[in-house]
Amino acid sequence: EKGTYPHFMLKEIDEQPFVMRKIIQKYQDENNHLKLDGDIRRAMQTCDRVYIIAAGTSYHAGLVGKQFIEKLSNIPVEVHVASEFSYNMPLLSDRPLFVFISQSGETADSRSVLVQIKEMGHPALTITNVPGSTLSREADYTLNLHAGPEIAVASTKAYTAQMAVLAILAVDTARAKEIALDFDPMQELAIAANAMESLTDQKETFDELVRDNFGTTRNAFFIGRSTDYFVCLEGALKLKEISYIQAEGFAGGELKHGTLALIEEDTPVIALATQENVNDSIRSNVQEVAARGANAMVISMHGLEQDTDAFVIPHVHELLTPLVGVVPMQLLAYYAALHRGCDVDKPRNLAKSVTVE
Ligand code: M6R
Repeated sequence: EKGTYPHFMLKEIDEQPFVMRKIIQKYQDENNHLKLDGDIRRAMQTCDRVYIIAAGTSYHAGLVGKQFIEKLSNIPVEVHVASEFSYNMPLLSDRPLFVFISQSGETADSRSVLVQIKEMGHPALTITNVPGSTLSREADYTLNLHAGPEIAVASTKAYTAQMAVLAILAVDTARAKEIALDFDPMQELAIAANAMESLTDQKETFDELVRDNFGTTRNAFFIGRSTDYFVCLEGALKLKEISYIQAEGFAGGELKHGTLALIEEDTPVIALATQENVNDSIRSNVQEVAARGANAMVISMHGLEQDTDAFVIPHVHELLTPLVGVVPMQLLAYYAALHRGCDVDKPRNLAKSVTVE
């Protein structure tokens, strides 16, 4: 139920810190050890490459998950859009492990890849919010997102839960492989949960940013580098899906390779900069678009001090910044849709789970 919320989407955005805390509780025992199914641990330990398969927002979570698994547990990862997989099937490694990411567990495009790879005899793990769903039943192993029902068509809390569970999977694998980590992952997740909460407590700020910068624009751009680029893809999907504003997320460095031509007076450009080493390059991207009249909004974790209009988000561990960086984007999309009178929870032409290919 929505309770006092006007929309499920807003409620689900707000629930994200609680979902993080629930995930910590579900995946940690009383001695603060991770508790993951031993079979999943063995599957991760014995594979020589992970193939992540997903669609839409879940694909965007997979892009971040690749970084977790490669950086923490040292296993190469490929991420594939489910609907494209069979057209250009990659050359598979000797011991592949397929990881399906799906909030609903019912996405037909992902299921058809699962059927295909099971016929080939490969192992599969499904990360889903619905244990018992088709993708969960037909895979060898399941990891539960514990996000609670997600009703709004636009995925929010499932996306952040997917990234948190992927981080836990990567940490567990690192430990099984005796790779030392120089941080306490569960503590860092708890810090990220608090940071998310401090953002959901500042909703009016994002409402105002939308009022001041979006106007009647027909298009908007999200730019970021490194991990922020993946979060920008998600920010753009969120905005277009519910507000019908044409939105594009891209790597800041690509701006001058084409997209700059589209920047005109009052075009909203949202720049995300959570990684300290991208600050200078993102600052120059922002200057480039501002010089062409764009309404540039900077969301930064390190202050980009010279830019007085930067919205500063709380500091979290560098691997976990997507969990926090996406919250302003979800809220911007929500208010943009609200101000345009769109049906926030049920955008036109879309279904919550896409059960046809
Ligand atoms: O249930 P799934 O995670 O498999 O769904 C995949 C996509 O259809 C889904 O993430 C879609 O992109 C969302 N509506 C985006 O908000």
